[in-house]
Amino acid sequence: MKFGFPMAFTATILSWAILEYGDHMKQVKELDHIQDSLKWITDYLINAHPSDNVLYIQVGDPELDHKCWERPEVMTERRPLTQVNISYPGTDVAAETAAAMASASLVFRKKNPAYSKLLLKHAEQLFNFADTYRGTYSISTPQVQKYYNSTGYGDELLWAAAWLYHATGDHTYLRYVTVKNGNSFANWGIPTWFCWDNKLAGTQIKFLWFERYPRCRNIALQLYRKTAEAVLCGLLPSSTTPTSQRTDGGLIWVSEWNVLQYSVASAFLALVYSDYMLTSQTKTLYCNGELYQPMDLRKFALSQADYILGSNPMKMSYLVGYGSYFPQYVHHRGASIPKDANTSCSDGFKWLNSTDPNPNVAIGALVGGPFLNDTYSDSRNNSQQGEPTTYNSALIVGLLSGLITSSSVVQSFT
Ligand SMILES: *[C@@H]1O[C@H](CO)[C@@H](O)[C@H](O)[C@H]1NC(C)=O
Ligand SMILES: *[C@@H]1O[C@H](CO)[C@@H](O)[C@H](O)[C@H]1NC(C)=O
Ligand SMILES: *[C@@H]1O[C@H](CO)[C@@H](O)[C@H](O)[C@H]1NC(C)=O
Ligand SMILES: *[C@@H]1O[C@H](CO)[C@@H](O)[C@H](O)[C@H]1NC(C)=O
Ligand SMILES: *[C@@H]1O[C@H](CO)[C@@H](O)[C@H](O)[C@H]1NC(C)=O
Ligand SMILES: *[C@@H]1O[C@H](CO)[C@@H](O)[C@H](O)[C@H]1NC(C)=O
Repeated sequence: MKFGFPMAFTATILSWAILEYGDHMKQVKELDHIQDSLKWITDYLINAHPSDNVLYIQVGDPELDHKCWERPEVMTERRPLTQVNISYPGTDVAAETAAAMASASLVFRKKNPAYSKLLLKHAEQLFNFADTYRGTYSISTPQVQKYYNSTGYGDELLWAAAWLYHATGDHTYLRYVTVKNGNSFANWGIPTWFCWDNKLAGTQIKFLWFERYPRCRNIALQLYRKTAEAVLCGLLPSSTTPTSQRTDGGLIWVSEWNVLQYSVASAFLALVYSDYMLTSQTKTLYCNGELYQPMDLRKFALSQADYILGSNPMKMSYLVGYGSYFPQYVHHRGASIPKDANTSCSDGFKWLNSTDPNPNVAIGALVGGPFLNDTYSDSRNNSQQGEPTTYNSALIVGLLSGLITSSSVVQSFT
């Protein structure tokens, strides 16, 4: 299955991670790999956008697909395409794809200028399509609701416009996010969790960066700042307004399904903001009467990374392949089926049913994560806890890259 909505978000996050922490990635000789992974996605997204107002948002039929358990390399089943267009619009998915392409155009600006221009052209067309033909993609194509249901498109419009502003410097986009649409979509004052469905917190944190340019200072940006601060203050465990959505072991815990996406996304935002504070010489974060330093945010980010890598009550690393004790029954077809097995669609389920550990290790996969009581059930059909996703991987790449060194003066941000 190719699910376009979370895949585009994956690309946006990878781009953001590279823009912030490309220098760190280079130090550990991973920058080329990460750029290649990003290009793998953006090449696909370019192909998925064959004309201005058409975007293919899904390859495969999830109902049929879930009746099979087989290796992707040997699949022969039909994989039908689903698109959004002017009669069946998908503002959220088109805008997220625009964000992915605009952010990636920044990544490739020096390395591959022609490709960067191409991405930017697609991004602007897609944003225009998203904004002109408004509709939630999971209402236009209700069959996607069971998998990647979208709860609205206002956040993606703001997020995409923020990235387009960054990529083009065109003030129209800044006005779009602030005076034109802030009131309708920004949900100021209400902290939210950053994830594939909701980009508001990411947009707020990103906008703090633009405040360093005096021409960008306005009331709307102040409201973005206040909301971003509310998000960050909630994350700090010792603040006067800490979120209660946390396990006893200290992990941000928001939902039974794929909880780690929220923990890692929160940690990534806190880390990025702590680095913005250092580069912009903002000494303190004000939380309801208390003042915090960049180091407090960094410590929080580190606490989430440490938990995920094994400092937790289970003493388990949730990053597959890392440490000596990590999930052995990841919900992953390629990992669970031996490489020379000749099983097809339905008889492949014997590999899902098998009680043996996965024969292949999906190195680098970040699973869904623990229950609220800090425990984890390592069982192959436990997709709620044991299914890795591309967006989890992109987020953990961002978080770990940011933690590689504590030299926080961001140089790669263009
Ligand atoms: C527009 O998208 C809908 C939903 O995916 C699809 O059923 C329809 O065929 C598309 N329209 C055209 C002209 O392809
Ligand atoms: C999808 O989201 C919409 C909007 O939030 C909601 O009304 C609908 O019930 C959701 N569908 C499913 C299957 O959860
Ligand atoms: C799978 O099929 C290939 C080619 O048809 C054959 O060479 C191989 O031995 C088969 N493997 C198993 C485990 O049966
Ligand atoms: C796998 O287990 C399910 C549920 O127990 C069973 O219905 C199915 O037949 C099994 N499939 C195979 C191929 O072993
Ligand atoms: C932890 O929570 C899960 C899910 O609610 C539950 O199934 C499990 O029994 C709990 N484990 C312990 C040790 O309380
Ligand atoms: C795996 O879990 C799904 C969803 O909970 C369930 O429908 C299916 O029957 C389970 N399969 C097996 C083999 O246990």
